[in-house]
Amino acid sequence: MRVHVADHPLITHKLTVLRDKNTPSPQFRALVAELITLLSYEATRNVRTEPMTVDTPVAPYTGVAIAKPVPLVVPILRAGLGMLDGMMAVLPNAEVGFLGMARNEETLEPTTYAERLPQDLSGRQCFVLDPMLATGGSLGAALDFLFQRGASDVTAICILAAPEGLTKLEHDTVGKDVTLVLGALDQKLNEKGYIVPGLGDAGDRLYGSAG
Ligand code: PRP
Ligand code: URA
Repeated sequence: MRVHVADHPLITHKLTVLRDKNTPSPQFRALVAELITLLSYEATRNVRTEPMTVDTPVAPYTGVAIAKPVPLVVPILRAGLGMLDGMMAVLPNAEVGFLGMARNEETLEPTTYAERLPQDLSGRQCFVLDPMLATGGSLGAALDFLFQRGASDVTAICILAAPEGLTKLEHDTVGKDVTLVLGALDQKLNEKGYIVPGLGDAGDRLYGSAG
């Protein structure tokens, strides 16, 4: 697994405001969208392209187009939905699949309550969106779904990660083509499975308590 941790003052600044418990939901949502736009630049570095020729007003020019089959973007509901618009702004021709997952607050195990993905992902590049990589259970399960359906490679974009989740994913994805792009790698998980210092419950801060 390749891991890229962003190192850019704009990202660190936006993350600082995002972490602030006094940042209200409208600003939190706007910051998540801005962060994904910045992180997607790195995450799409290896997006597959094919030659494309156009005529400029002066001469023919051969550049590139996004190769087919087009990439699949998969937000993990709920919190990953907050990253979708920013990603689609960068990859407007991508298709979108959905995975709904919720972590049990006691066992910290994820359950999948919704799945709308193409059956056959042979040869597809996939981009998974989830702001939080905590124990790694949710993202690990999402990667399993995609590789079982034939995805060729998966890039996951997370705003924050804990070392514990990173270690689990590294172990679970041996031999698979996985790239992880992070806004920051935090210190640890606390006893409730929350990332420290983190930003709290990303889904609740985006959309309110699911209660
Ligand atoms: C959060 C987050 C991840 C998951 C991370 O979702 O968005 O999907 O927890 O935790 P893990 O790495 O320990 O699996 P949550 O289950 O709270 O659902 P929500 O997005 O609907 O709030
Ligand atoms: N999910 C969240 O939303 N936040 C955490 O810190 C851990 C899991």
